[in-house]
Amino acid sequence: MESKINKNFCIQPFVNVTTRVGGQNNICCAMVQRHSNIQNESPHEFFNSKRVQSIREKFLKGETLDACKLCHFQEAKTNSSARTVYNNFYKIDNNQPIEYYEKIIDRLRLKNIKNPLYAEVHISNLCNLKCLSCNEADSSKFHAENKALGISENPEADYSTFDKNKIDALNSIIHDNLLFLDIRGGETLMVPEVKKILNEISPDKAKKITLRIQTNGTIKPDQEWIQIFKKFKREKLTISIDAYGNDNHYVRYPSNWKKIMDTLTHLEKNDVHFSINTVVSNLNLLVLDKLFAWIQEKQYHNYFYVLESPSHYRPDNLPQSLLDIASERLQNVKKDFVNKDCNEKLDELIEMCKSKSNTLRWQTFCKEIAMRDKYRKNSITSVMPQIKEYMNAKV
Ligand SMILES: C[S@@+](CC[C@H](N)C(=O)[O-])C[C@H]1O[C@@H](n2cnc3c(N)ncnc32)[C@H](O)[C@@H]1O
Ligand code: SF4
Repeated sequence: MESKINKNFCIQPFVNVTTRVGGQNNICCAMVQRHSNIQNESPHEFFNSKRVQSIREKFLKGETLDACKLCHFQEAKTNSSARTVYNNFYKIDNNQPIEYYEKIIDRLRLKNIKNPLYAEVHISNLCNLKCLSCNEADSSKFHAENKALGISENPEADYSTFDKNKIDALNSIIHDNLLFLDIRGGETLMVPEVKKILNEISPDKAKKITLRIQTNGTIKPDQEWIQIFKKFKREKLTISIDAYGNDNHYVRYPSNWKKIMDTLTHLEKNDVHFSINTVVSNLNLLVLDKLFAWIQEKQYHNYFYVLESPSHYRPDNLPQSLLDIASERLQNVKKDFVNKDCNEKLDELIEMCKSKSNTLRWQTFCKEIAMRDKYRKNSITSVMPQIKEYMNAKV
């Protein structure tokens, strides 16, 4: 009898714990489920809980969870999802017979593992910027703006304070098995408590762990931070930049290009590894060519991610004539990225610009931009003068 193909296996519950900014523990960042919080369960306890054990058993049998619907939705559209990316990261093939995954778990000795190998922590939303595509749970500045505009989803929430639960949560996952500590933000380099905890990790422990920190590049890490980076097996800083020069100031408001350049020079001088990460949206699509040319000229390693949410900032939510301009500009960009995957992704982006625009959310985009521009006293026309005639128009 032919064995059953497991179309739903995901490695995440066997290796990962993700803690969101509100304290929710989860098995991954893509999962839509809120079943545990650091107020009553540490990430370590959550990883060892019966709930997570039962998710592992389900995945080994080829079953899935309602909470994984985002991945299945994306796979139906593009054949790829967080699930497939995570499996690939551990060199695990997708859509294999049930026994294949049982053998992998045995071979990797993950069956009775007590501690996660990978911890992704969104521990504080303290941030000095309010990038347009961001949200109030990730940025304290964005939260403050939403409150001032009377549109906050949760005006009472305070995700920036660092209490004992957060300290215990972070400490609970820093243990001997941990291979990757991935600290998201907020702007982690601004959080003294995180710095203190990382400082206190013994060099012996740290040298087994890869530390990843995402940063907006405006905070130049001091020597204490540099020493922290150097203590780890490997440091991976991801510098988020969405446009070149002043255009970045608008999209990632109120970032400062000179400060970012200063940080990059400082990191290079101190031999700290970093790459550039860009979120592609309709806010930067028309000026991406300048950013990509600069990244290639500097020969920086980079990634770019095409924004999905909020949907009004998706890159194809632009009038076709603007997509045509973007396509023409992007076609003039050399395909000389250090990260060769980006050459292929650039072709896909150009193809996306050539296919039909999808402006169902155009009015939402215009309303949102008008509201934020008025409050911030700036204008999207500084990045895209061509947009003026389309703002609030039927497209
Ligand atoms: C929320 S930030 C926190 C870390 C740090 N403050 C930074 O900007 O790098 C993490 C990453 O999410 C990206 N990001 C912002 N808005 C996004 C969106 N709507 N969809 C996906 N990623 C987004 C940022 O550019 C950044 O690379
Ligand atoms: S710097 Fe990061 S956390 Fe802060 S607003 Fe921008 S994307 Fe959000």
